[in-house]
Amino acid sequence: MIDLTGKVALVTGGSRGIGRACAIRLAEAGADIVLNYVTSRGQADQTAEEIAALGRKVAVIRADISEEDDVHSMLDFVGETFGKLDILVSNAASGGFRPLLSATARNFEAAMNTNVRALLYLLQASVPLLEKSDGRAKVIGISSHGSHTALPFYGLIGTSKAALESLARHFALELGDRGINVNIVQAGLVATDSTRLLPAADEMFAGSRMKSMVGERDLEAYDVANAVLFMASPLSDLVQGQTLIIDGGAAIHI
Ligand SMILES: NC(=O)c1ccc[n+]([C@@H]2O[C@H](COP(=O)([O-])OP(=O)(O)OC[C@H]3O[C@@H](n4cnc5c(N)ncnc54)[C@H](OP(=O)(O)O)[C@@H]3O)[C@@H](O)[C@H]2O)c1
Repeated sequence: MIDLTGKVALVTGGSRGIGRACAIRLAEAGADIVLNYVTSRGQADQTAEEIAALGRKVAVIRADISEEDDVHSMLDFVGETFGKLDILVSNAASGGFRPLLSATARNFEAAMNTNVRALLYLLQASVPLLEKSDGRAKVIGISSHGSHTALPFYGLIGTSKAALESLARHFALELGDRGINVNIVQAGLVATDSTRLLPAADEMFAGSRMKSMVGERDLEAYDVANAVLFMASPLSDLVQGQTLIIDGGAAIHI
């Protein structure tokens, strides 16, 4: 039912984890993909091969999304190669797991620059291309429960995700009448390279399994990608400035 043929989607942090699943889902639905990474060239190339095997155009581009110049160069490349952008998935994030009491100014800035300021740079650079989309263009940010709950060692990232959600709402206000939807998909705990490094990861996964209300099924990267696919499609044209939680119900289970 969702047909994204002819659409161009940029996925930041598309080399691994949730970003990789989003890129593949969007490609399966027909979109051509610009796949961004910063360090994992091999994994980015592997994901790109899977997308090319689906018969889609795919371009791999290295850019550190916390660096304004890199973001502008990446969007210049998208403009030169595809001439427009229909879907932007702002997925890449980092930040490190540490207690707030030992966080330095540098740690704080790194988390905010990669997880929040990147969306500012990405949108400032991409609005002219998003405005060339036929139909409404879709911007989707990826957030986490840390934006509204407290998790051990997650203070910096959680703070950045709260700011990200607010930034998305305010962009929705500024861009809605220019043909662009800005929404957030907020994911529960998914096993990826980063969450496997969480201190007490086993307890965190057990806790989220216990709170989940969809039987025995664990949340996977493709479950998050399915929500992103909806947000990227015309089915969500009237969804604006929202945060959609995909976590099997864990967040509402006390
Ligand atoms: N996993 C979860 O449980 C969970 C839950 C809720 C929300 N999320 C959110 O979902 C998103 C993806 O998480 P994940 O667990 O899939 O992460 P991951 O497996 O650690 O992958 C991170 C991705 O981001 C890219 N990246 C990191 N810093 C970057 C930078 N400065 N510039 C460009 N790319 C950068 C990485 O690129 P390289 O491969 O090149 O290093 C990689 O592709 C994040 O926004 C995360 O906060 C995750």
